[in-house]
Amino acid sequence: MNHQDSQYAAQAANLAKTYDPLDLEIKQDPYPYYAKLRRDEPVKWIEGLQAFAVARYDDVDTVLKDASIFSSAQFWPALLGEFDPVPEVPPMISMDPPNHMQLRKLVNRAFLPTQVNALTQRTVDIANQLIDDLAEKYGSEGECDWVWDFTSLYPVTVISEVLGVPSERRAEFKVWVDDVLAAANRAAYGPERLAEIRKSSDAVRAFFEELYDQRTANPGNDMISQLIQAEVDGVRLTRIEVIQMAILLLIGGVETTTNLLGNSLVELKRRPEVYARLRKEPALIPQFIDEVLRFNPVVQMIFRHTTCNTELAGVHMPKGSAIMVLLASANRDETKFSDSESFDMDRKSSVPLMSFGQGPHFCLGKYLSLMETRSALEIVFKRFETLEPVSDKVEWIDSYFARGPHHLRVRYKLS
Ligand code: HEM
Repeated sequence: MNHQDSQYAAQAANLAKTYDPLDLEIKQDPYPYYAKLRRDEPVKWIEGLQAFAVARYDDVDTVLKDASIFSSAQFWPALLGEFDPVPEVPPMISMDPPNHMQLRKLVNRAFLPTQVNALTQRTVDIANQLIDDLAEKYGSEGECDWVWDFTSLYPVTVISEVLGVPSERRAEFKVWVDDVLAAANRAAYGPERLAEIRKSSDAVRAFFEELYDQRTANPGNDMISQLIQAEVDGVRLTRIEVIQMAILLLIGGVETTTNLLGNSLVELKRRPEVYARLRKEPALIPQFIDEVLRFNPVVQMIFRHTTCNTELAGVHMPKGSAIMVLLASANRDETKFSDSESFDMDRKSSVPLMSFGQGPHFCLGKYLSLMETRSALEIVFKRFETLEPVSDKVEWIDSYFARGPHHLRVRYKLS
């Protein structure tokens, strides 16, 4: 056990509270709680969410790979509840085999490495343009909010191009996506916040309904037009299915990559030696990104539901139980990753990370988000002489599901 490991073990032993994903303080730093779960209660009933939390790597792996017992069908309803913008049909992420696979095949092509690599130059141009905009707004040296001035605009611009959505409205998309995902916390919100979430949920739906009608009348070379024309076993997707798919891709493509870029800067601030090394050797950026994804993953957990009475780690789970699959905990499982609580971009893992899931729903956007993040960091290292968060304290998004800085005030100087 190294120093950081033993520090976490001691912290885990002394925690005054028990793990509650809705607790504000725990949301800020869930990692000692995950360590305690892995050690003492690897499958634990969580009263606040009426779900079993699964904390160890092997159990997480079992749940994700066995869709016949651990179904995804209730994922979206559990996450978004009555705030699902398209409650009439499930998105692919909330479907089980075999129907899930048919739908996945439809969009899979667009996310293959060859297709994604063709977008690389566009991502470089978008990153450069955003930095030019920032310089125009605040000057070549100063302070800005890195999340709202860069990381949140960049992936939304990229995914807008993929979908064929006008990117002028990208700031609105970010608010919609944030609000819809905030529905995961609905149990803890009052009427005012719930009304905002309702408004964004309705707005994103209305936006894609209008776009569907436009693209049906005037098809283009974009993904929405392709989805409208695509066929599964000779049957076309309905209007509502296309809209649901577009919203899933927007939600999947925006928040995650934004947070990965935010978390990358947070980890760099904590480790100036890593920052200096990457500036000198940008070829190491991909392995740095991998370690950020392991250490502080942007998707902390996902939901499943049991299709029958079953048992995991000796705990009985009745049919229909909700399960919180703690990906972020699995990534720190000390039986799989040596010095698991330490950040080490040189680590050689013998097991795959859980950050993008496993099994049939393995993230469709993995290559896209890795390529986008690598491009952005390369440009950032080239264009900025200094880029550093002003504080060590991070204001994390208020979520047990998504992890990234809500704001990140930075001091910068362009080269
Ligand atoms: C850092 C970036 C990302 C992370 C960490 C991430 C994480 C995940 C995870 C954990 C899942 C599995 C969900 C499950 O098993 O229930 C998933 C699925 C998915 N992701 Fe991502 N994602 C990222 C970026 C993206 C991007 C850029 C897109 C697309 C534009 C995307 C689209 C999807 C889709 C469509 C699914 C559902 C796949 C299916 O149901 O078969 N993701 N993602």
